[in-house]
Amino acid sequence: MAAPGENLRIDGDRLWDSLMEMAKIGPGIAGGNNRQTLTDEDAEGRALFRSWCEAAGMTMGVDAMGTMFATRAGEDPDALPVYVGSHLDTQPTGGKYDGVLGVLGALEAVRTMNDLGIKTKHPIVVTNWANEEGARFAPAMLASGVFAGVLDLDYAYGRKDLEGKTYGDELKRIGWQGEEEVGARKMHAYYELHIEQGPILEAEGRDIGVVTHCQGLWWLEFTLTGKAAHTGSTPMDMRVNAGLAMGRIFEMLQEVAMAAQPGAVGGVGQVTFSPNSRNVLPGSVVFTVDIRSPDQAKLDGMRAEIETRAAEICAELGVGCAVEPVGHFDPVTFAPELVENVRNAAERLGYSHMNIISGAGHDACWAAKVAPATMVMCPCVDGISHNEAEEISQDWAAAGTDVLFHAVLETAEI
Ligand code: GLV
Ligand code: MN
Ligand code: MN
Ligand code: MN
Repeated sequence: MAAPGENLRIDGDRLWDSLMEMAKIGPGIAGGNNRQTLTDEDAEGRALFRSWCEAAGMTMGVDAMGTMFATRAGEDPDALPVYVGSHLDTQPTGGKYDGVLGVLGALEAVRTMNDLGIKTKHPIVVTNWANEEGARFAPAMLASGVFAGVLDLDYAYGRKDLEGKTYGDELKRIGWQGEEEVGARKMHAYYELHIEQGPILEAEGRDIGVVTHCQGLWWLEFTLTGKAAHTGSTPMDMRVNAGLAMGRIFEMLQEVAMAAQPGAVGGVGQVTFSPNSRNVLPGSVVFTVDIRSPDQAKLDGMRAEIETRAAEICAELGVGCAVEPVGHFDPVTFAPELVENVRNAAERLGYSHMNIISGAGHDACWAAKVAPATMVMCPCVDGISHNEAEEISQDWAAAGTDVLFHAVLETAEI
């Protein structure tokens, strides 16, 4: 099969217009987006995406987790589809590109195929995975995890947001619970375009990250139980201070991550103090820990050390300590033949590139369990993401989508 010619390019202006159109739905308070999973804004974004897919001649399927699959037919009725996608849900203070570029870049690739009359042997399925972010319903990549058979559908339906609403109920409420059995689809391959969400590509002056691996992660939820008491009248030696235990655990977590350098990170993203009043010592503190590393032994070693030392800190202060793992995936090695396709596409198109390990989690990590998978990355300004200030240039978006387009054509066979 001949490789697609270097003159084949996607329409960067159309891609950008679509990104800006989607960003109007669920505007944030600082120029980004708040289109959290299974909210009314998520439903509105989905409807817009569906209308674009239908206008591009694709057929929409939705599975029981709410993941959307838009199919462009292939020439060979027996050929398995090439899946290409990412997610349209955002963090509560999310940017306009995290996930969205991957979905709309895939759509742009199909639109370009339509414009140029390109036919492929394999069908192409543009995919919007439900609940990639995990900000509202932990863990992240929930729907792709169920799709890959790693997580249970009932478990997923039972996940609760901070108000106690469940995934299953909210999915029904917004009207996006599909009929399809989750994971029944078979993939020939999976590609995902994403912004880097880190500073490396921009600092190195490269257009494209050829993603060879993704680091693994553990998400742990700590519940510390102390005694709610008056901050003024309770003597220091009579306090059972869950807040103090939390502070010491934060310091310990930093020490553990620093001792595991290079190639490890650890931090806290969410804290709930209860009762959360300025003159009451907290009766309970719930906080989330996120640790990641591309090295399996290091990742699991960090988890074990954090749990052991947290138990010691709490025992010394008389504070109760319970730890629940709420998210996990092992480090991922992406499929070498697809990684090579991405590298070749960047070369052919004249884009500068380098190998990169994804620091963030992506649906590609679960797709890699069931099919050859890989990713294409493009830079983002100052590496800022999960922040409304997230920014990319139109040229970066177009370059990433050009590479995605070529790599997909290679696998889908023109
Ligand atoms: C998901 O966006 C993650 O990497 O945490
Ligand atoms: Mn993302
Ligand atoms: Mn994200
Ligand atoms: Mn992510």
